[in-house]
Amino acid sequence: MKVLIVGSGGREHAIATAVAKSPKVDKIYCAPGNAGIGQIAECVNIGAMEFDKLVAFAKENEIDLTVIGMDDPLVGGVVDAFENAGLRVFGPRKNAAILEGSKAFSKDLMKKYNIPTAGYENFNSPEEAKEYLENSKYPIVLKADGLALGKGVLICNTKEEAMAGVNELMLDKKFGDAGNTIVIEEFMTGREVSVLSYVDGKTIKIMTSAQDHKRAKDGDQGLNTGGMGTFSPSPFYTEEVDEFCKKYIYQATVDAMAAEGREFKGIIFFGLMLTEDGPKVLEYNARFGDPEAQVVLPRMKNDIVEVFEACIDGTLDQIDLQFEDNAAVCVVLASDGYPVSYEKGFEIKGLEQFDNKEGYYVFHAGTKLSDGKIVTNGGRVLGVTAKGADLKEARANAYEATKLIDFDNKYMRNDIGKAIDEA
Ligand code: AMP
Ligand code: GLY
Repeated sequence: MKVLIVGSGGREHAIATAVAKSPKVDKIYCAPGNAGIGQIAECVNIGAMEFDKLVAFAKENEIDLTVIGMDDPLVGGVVDAFENAGLRVFGPRKNAAILEGSKAFSKDLMKKYNIPTAGYENFNSPEEAKEYLENSKYPIVLKADGLALGKGVLICNTKEEAMAGVNELMLDKKFGDAGNTIVIEEFMTGREVSVLSYVDGKTIKIMTSAQDHKRAKDGDQGLNTGGMGTFSPSPFYTEEVDEFCKKYIYQATVDAMAAEGREFKGIIFFGLMLTEDGPKVLEYNARFGDPEAQVVLPRMKNDIVEVFEACIDGTLDQIDLQFEDNAAVCVVLASDGYPVSYEKGFEIKGLEQFDNKEGYYVFHAGTKLSDGKIVTNGGRVLGVTAKGADLKEARANAYEATKLIDFDNKYMRNDIGKAIDEA
């Protein structure tokens, strides 16, 4: 089989690594890919939003299966474009990817189908939003409706902050049209857990849990980032939590989408908060998490291509999804200054020490080839993942492995997985 993966980050490198293990696969392409992906796939210089070019490439090269890693093309309808051309593609259609693409939609869906989530109101007008904020309880949460690179969420401690937030999102349009509508939501507290799942329209199969670290600095300080590290499984995702979510959240979401005429096939990523009143949905994503994929996929036992095909064909009920009984930790190596401003173009040294190193992975995010050398090319540069018998061992292994890699301006958090000690 020939497989095309669309995307260019650590998540897509993790997907490509899993696809490469499938005995069914002869050749992998990735558009646009990066230097690490280029070691196991042929990178194709087509952007993830260039749907016509992607479809033409898939036709010309007789691609058997295309896997979409990123949210923007999914929300923009890339799956519809492939399907209309008679091509096999893994991911939700546009009318289902709205689960991630519009927070107002997903909140209304949860309300209509009694799926536990924070109380909220949606607003199209800044005046009405401000009127509502006059008599609200604080802290309160403001969310841009559309995609905003994971940065469209403002936690406001005071009325003044919230009013300024409305200006930022709706009037200054900091995230463009994503802020035409905003969700104003009750502030919740509790531990966060990421649960990814495969969905075939009717059946849902849950993957092992994970936890992300979104802030740039140790102790969850600093700005929000795309994710500075992950661990899997989450020790806080207990059997009791699992049972609750199976009863009230997972299947309920899939059934709700089907009932709305928006059959969901692909990945649903449940961003959960474990509150005192039980687990609640913080957000849905319509794709693998990044860097959740970097700790979840290395622990998956199944042939991922078989699972993708079962989702497309509606036969996921026949798949026995299995994960290794171990743990994994991913520490992101970033460029110092991320997520604000940083230099790039520095040579990365030590990568070869991971060749054939069992239980270790270096997933490339922002890298490129330059004069035959691999150099830094982004804020998040690499994700170093290590497995271990348990979380503590995996964490020790991952941090030890980060020492093997060196580049100018290398920056990482030193407390990825610290929460493990509190479990
Ligand atoms: P989201 O993109 O919706 O996952 O939001 C990004 C982050 O903001 C989450 O991972 C939480 O840390 C935080 N957050 C979102 N919604 C709430 C809420 N209702 N209460 C408290 N924190 C929240
Ligand atoms: N790690 C969070 C996300 O992928 O949205």
